Amino acid sequence: MPPFTKTFELAATKIKIPAVGLGTWKSEPGQVRDAVRVAIESGYRHIDCAWAYKNEAEVGQGIRDSGIDRKELFVTSKLWNTFHSPDKVAAGLQETLDNLGLDHLDLYLLHWPVAFAKQPSKGKPEIDWALTKDVSPTWAAMEKLVEQGKTKHIGVSNFTIGRCEKLLKQAKIKPAVNQVELNLHCSQPELVQWSHDHGILLEAYSPLGSTGAPQLSDSVVKDIAAAHGASPAQVLISWQVKRGIVVLPKSVTPQRIKENFESIDLSADEVSRLNKRASEFGTQRTVDPSKAWGVPDLWKDEPGAKL
Ligand SMILES: NC(=O)c1ccc[n+]([C@@H]2O[C@H](COP(=O)([O-])OP(=O)(O)OC[C@H]3O[C@@H](n4cnc5c(N)ncnc54)[C@H](OP(=O)(O)O)[C@@H]3O)[C@@H](O)[C@H]2O)c1
Repeated sequence: MPPFTKTFELAATKIKIPAVGLGTWKSEPGQVRDAVRVAIESGYRHIDCAWAYKNEAEVGQGIRDSGIDRKELFVTSKLWNTFHSPDKVAAGLQETLDNLGLDHLDLYLLHWPVAFAKQPSKGKPEIDWALTKDVSPTWAAMEKLVEQGKTKHIGVSNFTIGRCEKLLKQAKIKPAVNQVELNLHCSQPELVQWSHDHGILLEAYSPLGSTGAPQLSDSVVKDIAAAHGASPAQVLISWQVKRGIVVLPKSVTPQRIKENFESIDLSADEVSRLNKRASEFGTQRTVDPSKAWGVPDLWKDEPGAKL
């Protein structure tokens, strides 16, 4: 099966972003260095990182082990919730760059639309409600990072349509992407359409259903996989790319890393079968910290909501 060489164009800069990138959440130190090297050797040119994953130093080692020219790689990281105060934003990025051993990123995301005043090692964080209700001061500090050449693009993550609309009214630099949960149980067709109409590229996190890849056992996915002599993971990843979405499958298993980078050409009929199957599940999030953080309206932005 052919590798995923497809790219999408980022509207503001016309720079290309590879359609499939390696996820690194829960990729343990001791495993992620090799995973990154294997991925790059297998053809991946896009790595998705975050300060909060606490493994960026090893990701950086994996990049160096591969011997790849930095110019060929697209590297993303994310500003953690404890760095939203405008005077901390540059320091948040600098920690990431130092850990990765890089002098700039290709894309820096606001990881969550939630600012923490404090994050204890156990229990609920203390929320900074002012910077949570209005992300524009944080965003303005991120815009400066682009001006300083520390990152080529900035974007958001876990933003609803309402939050994107609000940010678009305030931003000098429009978010290049929005990284959100997108998979068979959380396909978010309205967000996909809205983002397409507004030139914000979506990135699919947890494309296999997250830890343990539970969505690989879906009967429709397995059926389509069998028809192509492919794996269920290849069906789910190829489906999202067909929807015009960047996909970020995570694995630390060499065989799976390679498998996930092989594309299949789904027919229009197969895509509509998968869309129909997804519509049966509605929005069933796997990644939802709203209770753990004490932010009940994390996904709501209608008038009258707390945020
Ligand atoms: N922005 C955000 O808030 C956010 C939130 C969540 C995730 N993300 C990003 O999105 C990436 C992907 O999401 P995710 O890590 O939640 O989940 P995922 O990619 O949907 O699934 C990862 C799980 O699937 C397994 N797996 C991978 N390929 C497989 C295959 N071909 N066959 C069988 N099992 C397979 C992995 O196991 P092994 O590793 O053991 O092989 C791991 O248990 C993250 O790593 C992160 O970079 C971002």
